[in-house]
Amino acid sequence: MHVTLHSSALFSSPFIIVPSQKVPTKMEVKNKYVAIKASINGAPEESDFEIKVENLSLIVEPESKVVVVKNLFVSIDPYQINWMKSQSSSQTSIRYANAITPGEVIDTYGVGRMLVSHRPDFKKDDLEAGFLTWGEYSIVKEGSLLNKLDPSLAFPLSYHVGVLGFSGLAAYGGFFKVCKPKPGEKVLVFAASGSIGHLVGQYAKLLGCYVAGSAGSQEKVNFLKEKLGFDDAFNYKLEANLKSALKRCFPKGIDVYVDNVGGKMLETALSNMNSLGRVAICGVISEYTNASTRASPEMLDIVYKRISIQGFLIADLMTVYADFLSKTVEYLHDGKLKAIEDISQGVESIPSAFIGMFNGDNIG
Ligand SMILES: NC(=O)c1ccc[n+]([C@@H]2O[C@H](COP(=O)([O-])OP(=O)(O)OC[C@H]3O[C@@H](n4cnc5c(N)ncnc54)[C@H](OP(=O)(O)O)[C@@H]3O)[C@@H](O)[C@H]2O)c1
Repeated sequence: MHVTLHSSALFSSPFIIVPSQKVPTKMEVKNKYVAIKASINGAPEESDFEIKVENLSLIVEPESKVVVVKNLFVSIDPYQINWMKSQSSSQTSIRYANAITPGEVIDTYGVGRMLVSHRPDFKKDDLEAGFLTWGEYSIVKEGSLLNKLDPSLAFPLSYHVGVLGFSGLAAYGGFFKVCKPKPGEKVLVFAASGSIGHLVGQYAKLLGCYVAGSAGSQEKVNFLKEKLGFDDAFNYKLEANLKSALKRCFPKGIDVYVDNVGGKMLETALSNMNSLGRVAICGVISEYTNASTRASPEMLDIVYKRISIQGFLIADLMTVYADFLSKTVEYLHDGKLKAIEDISQGVESIPSAFIGMFNGDNIG
């Protein structure tokens, strides 16, 4: 989901757009941003967040590598809840996912326009994608991810946050690099209408796989089958027995599963896997806000069926980045891949858009 911070564009799973402002000629601007009031250790609520306003200096020393970016679209991602907790394995396992300090800006991936730079590689008004913040402006330090956008691609700016950004790379790399699928294999996607899930399903169809997925409403199920070409789909909230639903969709078992959900859904998917099946654990949203829903799969199944289960992070996927970008651009140009975006507008919309993802409010 994205938020647009610019009046001309907007989106959500997870992006946000910030209202347009004239490029300031002042020495400082008012920066509106979202902060947490305290660590969040359960399901997020509106009252956990506050909108703050700070005076942000636009004076950067000529020799400094720090730049100031006007945010245009920022991503809203379920995994950010793990940075908001008082502790989680995401904070201790990787360098760039530290706990968010209450009151401080919240990092995210996004697209922005260069406002102040003395660096030769970034000129004023260049469009960039990289680590920005849930706010109207971002101060980007040297070494933080920031890349100039290729204007020749001529896609909506929001695409650089979603289908050509982290969601697209996670979908492509999780499916192709981690699962090593073959044409004709049977592929399962849960949270299939989400930012990553809808792309995994389409990549799998483009490879020539059979694809079935689940989502949390009939509208989403129809969308998967009628608009995205899924072979089958079901509303997991209406299924009394998830195992039977999977048997119905996969009478001959599952070869490849890209997991966005974890918990009981992961357990059930594993019990329907074929021998030598591959499972990529992209995320486990059902476990993020409820520690009592941990998956406890039948490990003997994993042993005797020799099932591979691998977690992955975007940082592991850089070896397929060039391939991802060229194939995805080609599919988009040829109309073979649909990029579905859920966009909300303005910094103030970020908390409710974020909370909505845990309630299934977003498509794409
Ligand atoms: N490994 C990485 O590097 C990486 C990078 C980005 C994202 N991720 C992870 O990938 C997963 C998908 O991310 P995304 O950005 O594409 O989010 P998303 O799927 O667009 O949004 C979340 C969706 O998950 C479903 N959901 C929410 N709570 C659920 C629950 N308790 N049980 C089942 N489904 C639930 C909802 O759809 P329904 O209507 O279907 O319920 C909701 O719309 C997340 O777990 C995220 O943290 C991993």
